[in-house]
Amino acid sequence: MLEVIFVSVILGFWLTLPSYAANPMAVLFGGGKPVDMGKNARDGKRLLGDGKTWRGWAGGTISGTTLGLIIIGLASVVGASQAWTFGQFPQSLFRVALLAFGAMLGDMLGSYFKRRMGRERGAKTPILDQYDFLLGSWLLICIFDMGWFLDSFVHGQGWISFLSVIVITPLLHRGVNVLGFRMGHKDVPW
Ligand code: CTP
Ligand code: MG
Repeated sequence: MLEVIFVSVILGFWLTLPSYAANPMAVLFGGGKPVDMGKNARDGKRLLGDGKTWRGWAGGTISGTTLGLIIIGLASVVGASQAWTFGQFPQSLFRVALLAFGAMLGDMLGSYFKRRMGRERGAKTPILDQYDFLLGSWLLICIFDMGWFLDSFVHGQGWISFLSVIVITPLLHRGVNVLGFRMGHKDVPW
């Protein structure tokens, strides 16, 4: 039983790596033109803010997808089961791309809601900050490939992976952001 839990926890983390990679890579690649083109919403606040840029979006999506391809390759080379390879190629590539793109989409939606709540760029917003990207990834994958999500995160031992990702994500988010802050890539440690 303990072994099953252990494997499910690692698998959940593994299947979320494309989403996890997207955010810090957006920080590294970000800059330049903001996605909202500097426009304000009707409430007079920025639509998204200067923290959401095209370069960050593209860099995050491409990096997350690339990491996805690498781990698909790794799992294939060691002969791991299809659960670890995101299924069969090329659907697997489609899945990791959806996860990475969805992470950036969720991150952007998060900023949209933060601006509507009157919070400036970079203002701390618990829960939204930690989960917006994950929500985006899972929402997008559920729209385009619900079967894979159910197989991976609901059916069988999938729910253990689901719960562990929910627990690991805020810890990881915090850890990576503190690191990014100390390395001078981020203005705030959240
Ligand atoms: N970033 C970017 N483009 C994106 C996402 C992130 O350029 N699509 C970069 C920005 O430089 C941003 C940094 O990564 O400042 C950190 O991302 P995040 O914490 O999501 O943005 P915040 O600056 O905190 O802004 P917000 O309050 O909107 O989350
Ligand atoms: Mg932020």
